[in-house]
Amino acid sequence: MKLEFTLNGEPITLDDVPEEMKLLDLLRDVLGLTGAKRGCDTGTCGACSVLLDGRLTKSCRTPLSKVAGRHVTTIEGLHGPDGGLSDMQAAFLEFGAVQCGFCTPGMVLAGEALLLKNPAPTRDEIRKGINSNLCRCTGYQQIVDAIEATAKRRAAQSEES
Ligand code: FES
Ligand code: FES
Repeated sequence: MKLEFTLNGEPITLDDVPEEMKLLDLLRDVLGLTGAKRGCDTGTCGACSVLLDGRLTKSCRTPLSKVAGRHVTTIEGLHGPDGGLSDMQAAFLEFGAVQCGFCTPGMVLAGEALLLKNPAPTRDEIRKGINSNLCRCTGYQQIVDAIEATAKRRAAQSEES
């Protein structure tokens, strides 16, 4: 099938991709974007998470037929105003929310998806927002800290501007 969609803000057209191919396979094996990780490959761990029209989506379970005409954001699409780390990515480092790093791209995108829906979540809401993403290392506390700090800093910045 021919596939047209927007990837990290850029339109992309692929002339011949198998309809049944999963988005994770396209990203990693065809396009060379390896930020989304292959963990369980069964929709359980969240390591392959991307944003599809702003919603957290497990790319290992998403056929390309569902991607046509939509906006996909991967971890490679996030950056700060200076082209470096985004505020959420920097907060993950600052709060020790990154250990082995395998879950981190999916966790950061889970945080972004949550803040798109709810810019001022409680800690409980943050825990619920990331509950489809597994982390074997951190115990989650630091991840919640990083997302909470990002939400508060964004709120403070928008008050200033
Ligand atoms: S690799 Fe997709 S949910 Fe685990
Ligand atoms: S930092 Fe290792 S799985 Fe989360």
